[in-house]
Amino acid sequence: MTISQPSPKATVLLTCRAGFESAARDEAHVLLGSFLSRVKPGLDSACGFLTAEPAVSQEELAPHVSRVLRRQMKGADESGFSPACGPVFLHDVILGYEVDFPKGTHDRLGPLKLAVQECVSEGEGPLPSQVLSELGQIHVRGADPAAGVPGLDRFVKKFQTVLLQHFGTKDQGNYELIVIFLNYERAVVALRERVDAEVLQLRGRVPRLQNAPSRSGSKLTEALRFFQVEAPQGSAWAVDLGAAPGGWSAVLVEAGYQVMAVDNGALSLELLETGRVRHFTEDAFRFQPQRPVDLMVCDVVDKPQKTINLVSKWVEKGYAKHFVFNLKLPMKKHYSEVSQCLTALRTAIESLGWSAEIDAHHLYHDRQEVTVWVKLRGRIS
Ligand SMILES: C[S@@+](CC[C@H](N)C(=O)[O-])C[C@H]1O[C@@H](n2cnc3c(N)ncnc32)[C@H](O)[C@@H]1O
Repeated sequence: MTISQPSPKATVLLTCRAGFESAARDEAHVLLGSFLSRVKPGLDSACGFLTAEPAVSQEELAPHVSRVLRRQMKGADESGFSPACGPVFLHDVILGYEVDFPKGTHDRLGPLKLAVQECVSEGEGPLPSQVLSELGQIHVRGADPAAGVPGLDRFVKKFQTVLLQHFGTKDQGNYELIVIFLNYERAVVALRERVDAEVLQLRGRVPRLQNAPSRSGSKLTEALRFFQVEAPQGSAWAVDLGAAPGGWSAVLVEAGYQVMAVDNGALSLELLETGRVRHFTEDAFRFQPQRPVDLMVCDVVDKPQKTINLVSKWVEKGYAKHFVFNLKLPMKKHYSEVSQCLTALRTAIESLGWSAEIDAHHLYHDRQEVTVWVKLRGRIS
């Protein structure tokens, strides 16, 4: 008996950290709203993804998605709207085709091949048909483990091998094939250029420093990589506000900074013994460096608006031109709160006569916070 296969349906898959689906949905409405309809969580549980229907053809949508993923959000779009920075909660936006596997089928490869074909069908999809001979990578993933589909992780690993055998890849291949299993009955299949993937790979787990005073240091390591903060050349000073027990300070020392660590709490002895960290037992909101520093970082747990005011004060006083800090998330309305804070920060910096690059992201090592990066570029003439 042959089981009839429904034809794949064009779908947009939006991924985020599990539990932050409503923040990602709010952000998707702001960044891509006019191109999407029916943006909704992928499953009832916290699953780390949303699905949407494209309101325009994939060909029309693709450049807008690429701009969002490459974080090219500067300046207003045609409607005059200018977002405060690149996507914060959205991790990936995948234009693909949804495949529903008939219940009881063991043949998942057949329907998937059909969907892959749909991705490259001339005239309809955004890609020319030779992409299959230029595949550089094949990614097969399951929905976030928090979604609790038992055994899905093991299944996707096996399926990756099946797809590699079937399609094959070339080291220099320009395209990647992505298959995300939402559960055993549904997957989304997409093909896209690898350059987007390289931007996405800046986020993700980083190794913990040896003898790190706290796990928290990984957050700063990941942030320095994600925002591409270059290590200092020669002697450079950083201020670490809310430094104890010293995870971030240890990362700064490793990167080549001398550090003023501000916290009433105790710092790791090992860190102090490096001779590169001075401990100031003071209030972070009152601390004043004696001379300008190369980088200010802040991991104080407090209201986001208070942190924004603190950074604005540092800009006003000329204490630093480069900042990495966390905004601790409120209980609700994550996106609107973060967005308002970043807009307020940009307004404050510009009213002080500076142009600045501002970006923020919910990183892999972040939990109830997002990480913000600010670099003052020059005086507004
Ligand atoms: C999340 S912990 C920082 C962890 C640190 N980044 C690390 O990697 O080890 C927050 C720190 O902020 C400090 N803190 C909170 N309010 C502060 C304030 N007003 N002034 C200075 N430190 C403060 C706390 O004592 C605590 O050590």
